[in-house]
Amino acid sequence: MEIKTHTVTLRGERMVLRPLTEQDWETLLRWNNDPEVLYFAEGDDVSSHSLEDMQGIYRGVSQNAFCFMAELDGCPVGECWLQRMNLDRILQKYPDLDCRRIDLMIGEKNRWGKGLGTEMIRLLTDFAFTHERADAVFGCDIADYNPRSLRAFLTNGYQLDVTTPQPPGGKARCCYDVVIRRH
Ligand SMILES: CC(C)(COP(=O)(O)OP(=O)(O)OC[C@H]1O[C@@H](n2cnc3c(N)ncnc32)[C@H](O)[C@@H]1OP(=O)(O)O)[C@@H](O)C(=O)NCCC(=O)NCCS
Repeated sequence: MEIKTHTVTLRGERMVLRPLTEQDWETLLRWNNDPEVLYFAEGDDVSSHSLEDMQGIYRGVSQNAFCFMAELDGCPVGECWLQRMNLDRILQKYPDLDCRRIDLMIGEKNRWGKGLGTEMIRLLTDFAFTHERADAVFGCDIADYNPRSLRAFLTNGYQLDVTTPQPPGGKARCCYDVVIRRH
């Protein structure tokens, strides 16, 4: 199974989101083995990814998602996707809504905190509502130690949906789901 690709390109003021492809593995593997990136992007147990594991994740997600490479001045700086909701807790709470989720990672750390993540979320959210006619879009499992991620969603009009306490001894004391509805 290869990445299920698409033909959508989203253009913002600075960022261009273009389809993720099977040519992007080298870049993705570098980001997905950077301990600082993984600290924020993953839960407690993940400190590295083999090429095979990582390919499995992206290829699997892409079957139900639009996966993008985020480029700044033609250079890849991050990745993101708009995926059909896959979490039972949310599907059960909103059974009548077409729910999607956004996940994102800026792999080039020197680009953190400059508004790029906020722009990526804005582009994906607009796409979800105008093109996909989704009813609700979520950011899921945002850890309490990741204020940049939480702020980037809230700035785009997302609201706190659920705060979930985490078991003691892990990195996070709680995680947040955030949501924005079409209207
Ligand atoms: C999460 C991520 C995508 C956010 O993108 P970003 O470009 O760094 O964030 P932005 O600059 O767009 O926005 C950051 C917001 O947090 C604030 N912020 C920035 N640095 C911060 C810090 N150290 N502490 C608290 N808030 C901070 C900014 O002020 C901004 O909020 P504002 O618009 O209300 O002022 C990016 O940091 C990243 O990829 N991190 C690693 C992977 C990851 O965490 N993915 C998400 C998993 S849920």
